Amino acid sequence: MSGGELWLLRRLLVMVLVLALRASGGEVAGSPEEETRLRVGFYRAKCPVAEDVVLAEMRAILEEDPTLAPSLLRMHYHDCFVQGCDGSIMLRSRSGKGERDATPNRSMRGYDAIQRIKARLETVCRLTVSCADIIAMAARDAVYLSKGPWYDVETGRKDGDVSVAEYAENDLAPPDSNIVDVKTFFSVKSLNGKDIAVLFGCHSIGTSHCAAFQKRLYNFTGRMDQDPSLDARYAAQLKKLCPPGGHGHGHGHGGGGAKVPIDPGSGYTFDLSYYRHVLATGGLFQSDGSLRDDPVTRGYVEKLANASSPDEYFQDFAAAMVKMGRTDVLTGDLGEIRETCDGFVD
Ligand code: HEM
Repeated sequence: MSGGELWLLRRLLVMVLVLALRASGGEVAGSPEEETRLRVGFYRAKCPVAEDVVLAEMRAILEEDPTLAPSLLRMHYHDCFVQGCDGSIMLRSRSGKGERDATPNRSMRGYDAIQRIKARLETVCRLTVSCADIIAMAARDAVYLSKGPWYDVETGRKDGDVSVAEYAENDLAPPDSNIVDVKTFFSVKSLNGKDIAVLFGCHSIGTSHCAAFQKRLYNFTGRMDQDPSLDARYAAQLKKLCPPGGHGHGHGHGGGGAKVPIDPGSGYTFDLSYYRHVLATGGLFQSDGSLRDDPVTRGYVEKLANASSPDEYFQDFAAAMVKMGRTDVLTGDLGEIRETCDGFVD
């Protein structure tokens, strides 16, 4: 065989190899570049069933308790905003100083569900799928199973081993935030006005304890008054569900007392009614109502409140969730794959 023919044969072999790899999902599993960035299908080679297992477990979990769908969506937000999407929200602290113990997380639910999915995954692909990715996939599935959009979730996150209550206190905006506060909290995480308006649509599903908004009803400025930006009829309904005093912890983030839907009328369906609700009534939290106080967020709320189809919103939502899911992630050699998600930090 001549030198030229040999060269041609080699090129042919390389081309066949490339085509075969593309056909198998397009990844060069384990190549350094692929290992160090988030991407759709990160587990396709390492644990091809990972996403199917999460979805199947999520179906079973929500069949047993449908109220966990919003809780698991919320968990992804609380994980990502505190030291990045690194699964640290799952860690437990014996001294009561971990993220779970922080005020905004006292009303968090769904830890056992994530651990259940992790335990299942450990039986099929040992030490392969991170807790941070499980939370991201569970959030996507929670939305999908609440009649919201399906979107491609990026994976490849590693888990962190630090969990500090103060970080959660500092990085999660309280529900009495105004739009300036909200924009500050979100811009620190590289999320802009449109992202805020889109991500707040998460409040289309789920409930809140009365304590998180009680002040708006009974003592807005310290003079036993009501928040004037809250629709009077809606306020009257809320007062019936949340009588004065209540059993709330009064810490402004929920955690005690009765619960009410954040988007009344469609509290477990991921749809546009949250935007109509915010526009018409001022929403449940001051932070929801604050979307009306900025031209960008208000414009978006008005557009969606009047939209005839959720298609545009669903696309925006997918993009915003993917963007939030990239917040300060650990990849490659940074971080670890834990054996259990809910281990102790101290
Ligand atoms: C300034 C921003 C935000 C504030 C102040 C806020 C505040 C709250 C509060 C106080 C609750 C009620 C907790 C309880 O009493 O049980 C809640 C629930 C919830 N939040 Fe947010 N939130 C914000 C942003 C977000 C974002 C960006 C997402 C999603 C990406 C989200 C998803 C949810 C969901 C789904 C629930 C319902 C949880 C359940 O039913 O268990 N929130 N939020």
